Amino acid sequence: MTTIYDIAKFAGVSPATVSRVLNGKESVSEETKQKVLQIVEDMNYIPNAAARSLVEKKSWAVALLLPDISNPFFATIARGIDDAVSDKGYSLIICNSDDSLYKERKHINILRKRRVDGIILIASRNKSSVGDLGIKNTPLVIVDRHQDTDHADFVLADNLNGARVATKHLISLGHKEIGTVTGPQNISTGAERFQGFKDAMSEADLQIDEQFIFEGDFREKSGYQMAKKMLKGSRLPTAIFAANDLMALGVMTALKEANIQIPNDMAIVGYDGIVETNYVVPQLTTIVQPNYEMGQVAGEHLIWRIGNPEEPRQKIVLSPRISIKNSSVMKQRAQI
Ligand code: RIB
Repeated sequence: MTTIYDIAKFAGVSPATVSRVLNGKESVSEETKQKVLQIVEDMNYIPNAAARSLVEKKSWAVALLLPDISNPFFATIARGIDDAVSDKGYSLIICNSDDSLYKERKHINILRKRRVDGIILIASRNKSSVGDLGIKNTPLVIVDRHQDTDHADFVLADNLNGARVATKHLISLGHKEIGTVTGPQNISTGAERFQGFKDAMSEADLQIDEQFIFEGDFREKSGYQMAKKMLKGSRLPTAIFAANDLMALGVMTALKEANIQIPNDMAIVGYDGIVETNYVVPQLTTIVQPNYEMGQVAGEHLIWRIGNPEEPRQKIVLSPRISIKNSSVMKQRAQI
C-alpha cells in the first residue's frame, strides 16, 4: 500500500511537505505542489486518516451525544449538525445516552480517548457529565438543554415563552381548567415549559388544579400512562398542554380509547413540531421548535470554536412558533 513516505521519496521532498500539499497549505511552491500531486495521482495514493490525524493532530471527527436518535426531534437536530460539519470536512459520530447519566459519561470517556475535535451535547439531565468529566479542553457546544458550565457555548430555544404561547392559546379559546403533562423536571426544557405554563395561568388569574398536573419523561408511553391516570380522576380538565409531541400523541391515544372527542371534549397542544403531528387525526396543535436550525447553528459554531478556542463563550437562543391545528380549535366554542 502506498504511503505518504513513498510519495515523499519519489518527489524528493519531506513527508511534512507532502502533507502540506494534501491539505492545501500555502507554504509550498507551485512547482513542488504540481510534482507531488502528479505522483499522488500516478500512484493512486489515498491518504490514511489515522496517519493524517497524527501529522495534523486533528481527528476531523466531531461527536453528537444526545438522548435518543429515534425521537424525530433529535434526529432533525442531528441532520442540521451533520449538514454543517460535513461541509467543512468533518465526520459526525452520534451516541445515544437514553437519558442515562451513566451512559452519557461512558460515551464521553470513549470520545475523549478517540480525541474527537469537538463535542455537541444534548444532556441527559440538568447535572450532566460536563462539569466533572474533564472535557474542559475539548470544544463543546451545548444544545437544547441548558447546563451549568463555563466551558461551553450554548444553542438553545426559548422554552419558557414557547410554553406560555401554548397555554395562552388554550386560554384564548375559553379554557379555564387546563392540565399539563410536563417533561422531566430535572431537565431544563421540562422545567422551563412547566414554568411557562404556570406563568400563563397566573397572568390570566386562573387556578392550577394539582390533580391535572402530571410529570412525564418525554416519551409517548408516559403521555399515554399519565392520561390514563387522569381519566381515573373525579373531574377532567377541558384542555391539556403536553411538554412534547410524543407525550401529546400518547395522551391522544388514551383519550380516543376512552371515546373522548378531541378537541370538543378535550383540547390538546404539544411541543416540538415533529412531522408525525401532521399524520395524527385530528392534526396536533404544537409549538414548532427550530430544531434543524438549532443543529445547523450548533455545527457551524462548533467548527468556529475549534479554530477559535480563546474567544469568549456565546449563548444563542432561537424562538419557536405555534402551529394551530384541529386538536385545539373547537368546532364550536366551549360552554365553559
Ligand atoms: O422530545 C424531546 C424533548 O426533549 C424536546 O422537547 C426537546 O426540547 C428535548 O429537551
